[in-house]
Amino acid sequence: MNPRPVIIDCDPGTDDAIALMLALASPELDVQAITVVGGNVGLEKTLANALAVVALTGKKVPVYAGAARGLLGPFTSEVRVHGENGLAGIVLPPGAAPAPGLALDALRARVRAAAAPLTLLGIGPATNLALALMAEPDLAGNIAEIVLMSGAWGEGNVTPAAEFNAWSDPEALAVLLACGAPVAMATLDLTAQALVTPARLAALGACGQGRCLSAARDILAASPAHPFLPGAPLHDPCAIAYLIRPTLFTTRLCPIAIDLAPGPARGRTHIDRRGRHAIGPPTLILETLDAAGFFALLGERLTRLP
Ligand code: BDR
Ligand code: CA
Repeated sequence: MNPRPVIIDCDPGTDDAIALMLALASPELDVQAITVVGGNVGLEKTLANALAVVALTGKKVPVYAGAARGLLGPFTSEVRVHGENGLAGIVLPPGAAPAPGLALDALRARVRAAAAPLTLLGIGPATNLALALMAEPDLAGNIAEIVLMSGAWGEGNVTPAAEFNAWSDPEALAVLLACGAPVAMATLDLTAQALVTPARLAALGACGQGRCLSAARDILAASPAHPFLPGAPLHDPCAIAYLIRPTLFTTRLCPIAIDLAPGPARGRTHIDRRGRHAIGPPTLILETLDAAGFFALLGERLTRLP
């Protein structure tokens, strides 16, 4: 089977770093470019982290700097979860220089020129992807699918109502949901099934000795515990795993709407799993995960990297 051409938009970020490794290790995906947005930490750090992770994998993929903040609203980082450097304090050797040009322009040019429709993987605030689609709405016709880690049908993680990526740029998420391309979403309720428990962390560490696997293990070991769950959710790799091995997931097509009004509900994703109300565009919600299969896949793929 031909590898699926993808562009990954990210804000590394502990889980973004592991998501990039998973994608770059997987022959099912042809990662054509990586675009970076400010999110978990400021853009300067998310960009440096993306470049460092790519260098660690030894792959040659262009990395573009994107938006430093969302379309509206304040910029808020998530250093409580990702640490001041965005990688839970783990320091990686610096990577190469970013590719010339801006994420917005790279996305536009690459989607427009793609011989076959591209898949966009969004695992940070959706600003870069939305800017490209706002500048050039016809791009949606050459997008096979947009796969996001974003939102929640239940409780949020940055406010009681909102998940971090959705809350960081809800207007951008609304642009993606309405763009006309098929959208799939790994929400917090899905990623809460991908818990890094002490046993899973030990099993991952035992898979091998490579520098990427070691870095992934160190990042996960240094990441803070979840306040109520018996392990930390490994959010972003779920979106990647969906493209690599969709049989690990069950899905449901649900109408979705996002709260844009200022106030405590801003960034909340209303996901009608019962499908009773046409509140917004139908979106494929990843609903359940085979967690054992997911962690086995992750371990197996990380051992393919140096
Ligand atoms: C999402 O927010 C970020 O903190 C993580 O990298 C993930 O993309 C989870 O809410
Ligand atoms: Ca992220």
